[in-house]
Amino acid sequence: MKKHVVLALCLLVLLMNPDSTQQYACDKRTSKTSEFPFCNTSLPYDVRVKDLVGRLTLQEKVQQLVNKATGVSRLGVPGYEWWSEALHGVSNTGPGVIFNATVPGATSFPAVILSAATFNMSLWYEMGRVVSTEARAMYNVGQAGLTYWSPNVNVFRDPRWGRGQETPGEDPLVVSRYAVNYVRGLQEMEKDGNSSSDKLKVSSCCKHYTAYDVDNWKGIDRFHFDAKVTLQDMEDTYQSPFKSCVVEGHVSSVMCSYNRVNGVPTCADADLLKGVVRGQWGLDGYIVSDCDSVEVFYNSIHYTATPEDAVAVALKAGLDMNCGTYLGKYTENSVKLGTVEESVVDQALTNNYIVLMRLGYFDGDQTQHPFGKLGPADVCTDGNQKLALEAAKQGIVLLENNGTLPLSPNTTKTIAVIGPNANASQVMLSNYAGIPCGYITPLQGLKKYASVTYQPGCANVSCSDESLIDSAAKAASTADATILIVGLDQSIEAEGLDRVNLTLPGLQEKLVMQVANATPGPTILVIMSAGPVDVSFAKNVSKIVGILWVGYPGQSGGEAIAQVIFGHYNPGCCYSSALL
Ligand SMILES: *[C@@H]1O[C@H](CO)[C@@H](O)[C@H](O)[C@H]1NC(C)=O
Ligand SMILES: *[C@@H]1O[C@H](CO)[C@@H](O)[C@H](O)[C@H]1NC(C)=O
Ligand SMILES: *[C@@H]1O[C@H](CO)[C@@H](O)[C@H](O)[C@H]1NC(C)=O
Ligand SMILES: *[C@@H]1O[C@H](CO)[C@@H](O)[C@H](O)[C@H]1NC(C)=O
Ligand SMILES: *[C@@H]1O[C@H](CO)[C@@H](O)[C@H](O)[C@H]1NC(C)=O
Ligand SMILES: *[C@@H]1O[C@H](CO)[C@@H](O)[C@H](O)[C@H]1NC(C)=O
Ligand SMILES: *[C@@H]1O[C@H](CO)[C@@H](O)[C@H](O)[C@H]1NC(C)=O
Ligand SMILES: *[C@@H]1O[C@H](CO)[C@@H](O)[C@H](O)[C@H]1NC(C)=O
Ligand SMILES: *[C@@H]1O[C@H](CO)[C@@H](O)[C@H](O)[C@H]1NC(C)=O
Ligand SMILES: *[C@@H]1O[C@H](CO)[C@@H](O)[C@H](O)[C@H]1NC(C)=O
Repeated sequence: MKKHVVLALCLLVLLMNPDSTQQYACDKRTSKTSEFPFCNTSLPYDVRVKDLVGRLTLQEKVQQLVNKATGVSRLGVPGYEWWSEALHGVSNTGPGVIFNATVPGATSFPAVILSAATFNMSLWYEMGRVVSTEARAMYNVGQAGLTYWSPNVNVFRDPRWGRGQETPGEDPLVVSRYAVNYVRGLQEMEKDGNSSSDKLKVSSCCKHYTAYDVDNWKGIDRFHFDAKVTLQDMEDTYQSPFKSCVVEGHVSSVMCSYNRVNGVPTCADADLLKGVVRGQWGLDGYIVSDCDSVEVFYNSIHYTATPEDAVAVALKAGLDMNCGTYLGKYTENSVKLGTVEESVVDQALTNNYIVLMRLGYFDGDQTQHPFGKLGPADVCTDGNQKLALEAAKQGIVLLENNGTLPLSPNTTKTIAVIGPNANASQVMLSNYAGIPCGYITPLQGLKKYASVTYQPGCANVSCSDESLIDSAAKAASTADATILIVGLDQSIEAEGLDRVNLTLPGLQEKLVMQVANATPGPTILVIMSAGPVDVSFAKNVSKIVGILWVGYPGQSGGEAIAQVIFGHYNPGCCYSSALL
């Protein structure tokens, strides 16, 4: 009896206060607001958006131009966090995604640089489809947004770039194909892309437009960097993935970068934004700034005289949405000063709101959405996790083999597994990762095939002292085979951190040489890194009979490495950077 009263009270609270769980506008339970024309799904998007924008005051408008949009509660439009990330799995790098006991993790695919090395377009599409299904499932339980600022389609022109791991590599064609397939997988409502409607499953964003591949190299950082690019190089290299993304992938957002191109900050460049992205390529969606990049071009390089001028220049150039707070703070004043017209603000809002409408955000009850029934059980399914393993296996590259690989589990009874990445877990996820469904470290993967002795050899990839090398060599001296897993991690290549050389950091080369010299059996060298690493020293070491590059292989990376080494999967040939 009591239970029923409590239940009834709960229902009452829910009915009276829909905002407490509300994740969408036009809630039919509040007829007052759901009867506005902007909620009427029979009307075209542009008519609905015109109605909505027409109801807003200037003060309300400017608060919707930032990632943490306040919403307009008097119209039944809740606040919305635009910033979610899904570079290689739903990620909590942006504030739009949270993991908790309801959905504790999501499928974590390899770093894009490894998935790219599969050269498998249907795999890229399928990864996007799985990620968007998990994203929708998390959205339905209040743990994720609908707008994802992924993928990164900058061309990895400079192998020292710390963010090369996020990209599909240095070949503009491969980057373009990756962009089109991943974006379609994320956005399209129907499998295999036969989606005649302009509805979106989730919204994807190709970033960072454009000519960006330096973060911080000897003090030269992206906030101050002015990329001098010829027209030909722009067309052939830097623009082509963005063009494919918009024209063929029909992406619903493009993000402008921090750097300047030929003197002009990209987020203030009317030719690049209004002219090319919207005008020539016909973007149907919104243009968002990289986080704080409007503030950055004011503060770091004093591109304009005042913050009001900075927001005006950006809006007039074609920017619609500001990751950060600057447009929220200064646009109202800028309009009042006459620096930018209110109609420009209206156009920006229109571009943003149409995307939310295509996502169904203004259609009321989300359980009626085609993906409205997805929930926690649709995240980290066996099938999704198998695809992450598949991507890792297909991406792994065999660089060298004198015929010894694959090892036979019949004759290789004991193995020494050595190196700072031999028991990598988090490192395998690369950056812009979420919380994975689980991990299979290399050590765990290899243990399924042979009896293992493990020695890290170095405390970490910096490998600054040799105190652990002797015990590693000793372990190798009695094993049938030795597997050395070395390379890099986020302390060496990362956002905000470029490399200055391509060698193995610290004493890792010494570790490799001493271990190879101590072992009686074959030695396999496994490089876990995104950017290329110069291992030419290993060519001269006859004990090193095989070399593999495994990127950052994602949550099941250890299983993939083990399957390749023991012959359950035949690895591929090619990395998407000519240097490896
Ligand atoms: C929605 O728009 C259609 C088309 O204009 C109209 O016929 C219908 O009455 C509208 N519905 C509501 C609830 O206003
Ligand atoms: C997880 O977060 C969502 C959204 O905030 C919330 O509705 C849910 O209750 C949380 N789950 C747990 C177990 O805390
Ligand atoms: C591409 O990946 C899919 C999905 O894993 C797989 O079925 C297919 O065989 C792969 N294609 C090639 C050419 O390897
Ligand atoms: C897509 O679907 C439409 C309508 O359902 C159908 O007529 C068309 O043949 C399909 N196209 C492809 C490429 O499957
Ligand atoms: C590969 O190298 C190992 C170690 O030097 C040697 O024992 C083996 O015979 C070589 N295999 C082939 C096929 O050359
Ligand atoms: C390993 O042993 C199994 C079972 O004895 C046998 O079927 C298989 O062919 C052997 N594999 C190799 C690579 O020798
Ligand atoms: C390997 O890493 C896992 C996960 O971080 C950890 O739990 C385990 O203790 C490590 N194993 C060894 C032998 O250090
Ligand atoms: C690497 O290990 C050394 C020695 O244990 C330690 O001083 C250093 O802080 C570690 N570096 C990182 C990036 O963890
Ligand atoms: C090479 O780069 C590493 C970091 O990636 C650095 O620690 C090392 O000092 C560099 N070596 C030289 C010779 O510059
Ligand atoms: C390989 O060995 C030869 C002869 O000892 C030497 O000249 C060469 O520099 C070595 N190459 C590398 C990459 O270490």
